[in-house]
Amino acid sequence: MLFKQQALLRQKLFVLGSLAIGSLLYLVARVGSLDRLQPLCPIDGRFGSRGQDEIPLRALQFKRGLLHEFRKGNATKEQKQLPKAIIIGVRKGGTRALLEMLNLHPAVVKASQEIHFFDNDENYAKGIEWYRKKMPFSYPHQITIEKSPAYFITEEVPERIYKMNSSIKLLIIVREPTTRAISDYTQVLEGKERKNKTYYKFEKLAIDPNTCEVNTKYKAVRTSIYTKHLERWLKYFPIEQFHIVDGDRLITEPLPELQLVEKFLNLPPRISQYNLYFNATRGFYCLRFNIVFNKCLAGSKGRIHPEVDTSVITKLRKFFHPFNQKFYQITGRTFNWP
Ligand code: A3P
Repeated sequence: MLFKQQALLRQKLFVLGSLAIGSLLYLVARVGSLDRLQPLCPIDGRFGSRGQDEIPLRALQFKRGLLHEFRKGNATKEQKQLPKAIIIGVRKGGTRALLEMLNLHPAVVKASQEIHFFDNDENYAKGIEWYRKKMPFSYPHQITIEKSPAYFITEEVPERIYKMNSSIKLLIIVREPTTRAISDYTQVLEGKERKNKTYYKFEKLAIDPNTCEVNTKYKAVRTSIYTKHLERWLKYFPIEQFHIVDGDRLITEPLPELQLVEKFLNLPPRISQYNLYFNATRGFYCLRFNIVFNKCLAGSKGRIHPEVDTSVITKLRKFFHPFNQKFYQITGRTFNWP
C-alpha cells in the first residue's frame, strides 16, 4: 500500500516537473522570437530593403527593461524620434559593431540601415520628416541612434546636422589610420572581385609613382587623416559633443569602450560582459541577447587584409604621425598608434 502511494507521488511530481520545464522553455523561446533574432545569424543582410528597419511594437515591448513598464501599465505610445546621437564615422572603424553593441542597451534603439540623409543631396532635399520616417519606433525615454560613416568626410554634413540639432551627440570610432586605410581598400577590392574586375594593388594606390610619396588624393588615405575632417566639424560643434571610440580596442576588449559610450550618452550602465562573448571561429566578439539568442556580425566585417609591402606601411605611418598627434591633442584621447 505504502509502496503504491509512493509510486503515485513520484508520478505526480514527474508530471508537475515536466509541466514546469515545458512552460519555462516556452517562455524563453517566445521572448527570444519577439526580438526577431535568429541564433547566431549574421547581422548584415537580415534586412532586405529600406523601411524594414523598424523594430515592430511587439519586439520593443519585450526589449529588456520595457517589460517592467508594461506590467505597470504606464508605457507611453511609441513614436519615430530623430536621433539624439549619430555615429558619424569613420568608415571601417567598426561603426557597425559599435551600433549593434550599443543596441544591446535597453534605452537605445538603432536605425538598422545607413540612412545617408545628410551626405546625399537627393535625400536631404526630401526634408527632415522623410528622415524621421526612416527611424525605428521607440519610446520617449529611449534614444535613437543611426550610423552613416560617410557623414564624417562629407563637407556639407556638419552644418546640416547642426541645423537639425545643435546639441546632438556625435560618436566617432577610429582605428590606427594605416590599418583603417587597408581595410577600406580591402572592401573596395572585394567589390571589384565580386564583379570579376581587376584592381590595383594597395601599394600602387597609396603611393604616388611620380614622387614616391604618399598619395593624398587616394580616398582611403584622405579618410584616415582624422584631424582634417574633425576640424571641419569643430566649426559647428564644441569638442565636448564628440566622443571618440577606440575601434582597435572595440575589437579586442569591447566592454570598457561601450561603458565609456554609455557614460557619454548619460545612460545607466546596462551592457555587461554577459552580452558579449568571444567567438573563436569568427575571431571576434559576438552579441548575446539572452540564453537562446546570440548573433555575430556578418562575414563582411572582419575581412582578411591583403599583405602590404612593409616599406609602404612604414611610409604611411610616418605620414599619418603628425596628423595623429594633432588628433590626440584636439580630442584629449591618445592612442598608441605608431
Ligand atoms: P576589417 O574588415 O578590416 O577587419 P565598419 O563596420 O565601420 O565597416 O568596420 C568594419 C570593421 O569592424 C572590421 O574591419 C572589423 O575589424 C571591425 N570590428 C570591430 N568589432 C567587430 C566585431 N565584433 N565583429 C566583426 N568586426 C568587428
